[in-house]
Amino acid sequence: MGKFVVEGKNPLLGEIKVQGAKNAVLPILAATILADGECVLHNVPDLRDVSKTELVLRRLGCPVKREGHDLTVKPAELCSCRICEDLMREMRSSIIFLGAVISKCREASVSMPGGCPIGLRPIDLHLKGLRDLGVEISEEHGYINCRAKKLVGCEIHLDFPSVGATENIILAAVYAEGRTTVQNAAREPEIIDLASFLNKMGARITGAGTGTIYIEGVKEPLHGTEYTIMPDRIAAATYLAAAAATDGELLLTGTEPKHMGAMLHVLNEMGMKLKVFGDTIHIKHGKRLSGVHMLRTMPYPGFPTDIQSPFMAVAALAEGTSVFTENIFENRFQHVDELIRMGADIKVAGRSAVIRGVKNLYGANVVARELRGGAALVIAALAAEGRSEIGGIEYIDRGYEAFEKQLSSCGGIIRRE
Ligand code: UD1
Repeated sequence: MGKFVVEGKNPLLGEIKVQGAKNAVLPILAATILADGECVLHNVPDLRDVSKTELVLRRLGCPVKREGHDLTVKPAELCSCRICEDLMREMRSSIIFLGAVISKCREASVSMPGGCPIGLRPIDLHLKGLRDLGVEISEEHGYINCRAKKLVGCEIHLDFPSVGATENIILAAVYAEGRTTVQNAAREPEIIDLASFLNKMGARITGAGTGTIYIEGVKEPLHGTEYTIMPDRIAAATYLAAAAATDGELLLTGTEPKHMGAMLHVLNEMGMKLKVFGDTIHIKHGKRLSGVHMLRTMPYPGFPTDIQSPFMAVAALAEGTSVFTENIFENRFQHVDELIRMGADIKVAGRSAVIRGVKNLYGANVVARELRGGAALVIAALAAEGRSEIGGIEYIDRGYEAFEKQLSSCGGIIRRE
């Protein structure tokens, strides 16, 4: 297992091209199994989670070829309808194959996803949606076995707008008889990307990006297509946070600013100067940053839970007190103890953290326990006085392509050991 060694207090100055979105490419890769022709995906980030998803496809029997950021998935009769325990343990989001495999084979079996460092992450909403579509579900020896004589369109109401459940239902409903309506669907841009990809293959989905999604089941097999994955709004906001924490100035290219409203608003409130032009975002430091009065994580278009921890690293250095409330995952403050080791003044009470800004953070040896919390520690280390070592970087590799290279190309002193 590697670590990042960071020498802090160097402002990030330069230009970063933002990667394709991890959370869009994972369900889109699952969707490729529904096509009877070749799918060519562009702007596919080179991430650990994407390699794991490629492995799931290969184990199911689909040949996958990567060339740079292009990925080709050849059509295949699946040789298996089972996602094994090792892959489910490695990557909980493999659950997204459930809907696609049922759609294709009318049966699927996945190992029960375990807990995960950021919270329990149950899948009851995924399973309820599938049951409503006519899937019989049983649990045996740690596996969830699904079987459907036929899938029939219906009205599904989600108690919470779960991203994964919305995606699984869309995938399962693509070939169902008649129309499926998903009420209180997740409105995340990654849902729109999945629906656009499926529609390009011949599916009939409307309403993606709103709280009500309609899937008109199709009889014809979906055809292969070529598609460009949307920009990663969380990676983009992470680099903006790194610029803010280090008194830097960055130009991000290849972004979609309209997906980033809540995050840009907070940076603006903290005193950063932002300019948006086309697919670029320019960020520049003004005076010393001020804290955020109240930041609450919410489903889209609210403030994303995934960027809560990187922004906390910024708030740790801002003037005044910030209050962050985490409403999506119950265990997403694991970075706090490590930020405190670096000199941050943070108190957690239940789902809220009170951050009193300090003038300086100091380098320390810290450990990432999950992906975004790990990014927060890197940001804090880049801004801190002195040297930090960050362990657990395999989490960071799940979601950021060449993280240390991107940061060092802009003057950050960071290397992998
Ligand atoms: C996706 C993202 C993740 C992001 C999250 C919230 C991917 C691969 N991951 O995760 O980066 O942080 O959305 O924006 O896209 N829940 C239930 N029952 C369910 C499903 C979810 O209670 O059946 C709860 C979860 O415990 C959590 C909340 O709903 O508290 C949100 O989860 P969900 O939107 O499903 O997140 P994921 O799809 O797992």
